[in-house]
Amino acid sequence: MNIVWSSYVQGIDTLYLSRKLRFADIFADRFKHSFKLDESKPLKVLEIGCGPGALAAALHRWYPNAEITAIDRDSEFIRFASEQEKDVRFLEGDATALPFTDESFDVTISNTVSEHIEPSKFFGEQMRVLKPGGVCLVLSSRRGINIAAECTVPDEREEEFWKRVSQYDDSMEKYSVCQYPMSEAELPTAAEQYGFQNVSVGYVTVDLTPDDPKYPAQMARDMINAHRGTKLDAFASALRTMPERVSAEEIEELKAAANIRYDKRLELYEHGEKQWDTNVNIIMVVRGVK
Ligand SMILES: C[S@@+](CC[C@H](N)C(=O)[O-])C[C@H]1O[C@@H](n2cnc3c(N)ncnc32)[C@H](O)[C@@H]1O
Repeated sequence: MNIVWSSYVQGIDTLYLSRKLRFADIFADRFKHSFKLDESKPLKVLEIGCGPGALAAALHRWYPNAEITAIDRDSEFIRFASEQEKDVRFLEGDATALPFTDESFDVTISNTVSEHIEPSKFFGEQMRVLKPGGVCLVLSSRRGINIAAECTVPDEREEEFWKRVSQYDDSMEKYSVCQYPMSEAELPTAAEQYGFQNVSVGYVTVDLTPDDPKYPAQMARDMINAHRGTKLDAFASALRTMPERVSAEEIEELKAAANIRYDKRLELYEHGEKQWDTNVNIIMVVRGVK
């Protein structure tokens, strides 16, 4: 049983909520435009490194004729995803040795996974399992715009905490996180290098601004709570990865202070006191054909 990612890198609920927002139906047309898939066909789609399954669930909604399979090596993500979405086949497995026969899928897709897997294996395995003419879609987060609401800006104590502990945080190497980052030019180059043809790139913008009236109230609350979750996860993972440097008591106090700030942000939202804090995610979509 492998639960490294969900225990030490990103918690299930936080990752699920942030991706549920990113792949909300309000953005479906933007993603579908850059995927350029033939919706009329009963496509066999494989998602690689699916995490808690929000993209796989979105693909099922957006392409009702498709058969979606999704794989991740973290057992907890697969357990959670299988409970959430019954119409997708979720499997535990390794992207560097996919448990599928050659030429068995029409589409492979991944979101924020390429940077964690050695590229010859990442692309090589997708090339192997895709049918001739099959499409490989690699989604990758790029630098966006992050403006925090005044009331959620970390206090001095939290600033001091991160300054003190971040120098000891070796979790990126320890858990093989982001060991293969690629620039906006390197990623499509790699797709070509590993044999994909007609490689193209697109950029999808997902703007998450709770105060913008185009978003329903529940989605706005989810945006605020997704931030809160990321923050609380960061504290929890500092405790798990550096127990000799931080105490459970200190973490509880930092969490309580952060919760007060995010409760305040929710209260301002409910009272219509606009803050215009925003997160603009830019998602690069590299598309290649086998
Ligand atoms: C940044 S998370 C993204 C998860 C998901 N795609 C999402 O956007 O919510 C990276 C994911 O890749 C998975 N992963 C990393 N290396 C893997 C491998 N060799 N085989 C399968 N999954 C892997 C991790 O378990 C994790 O779920």
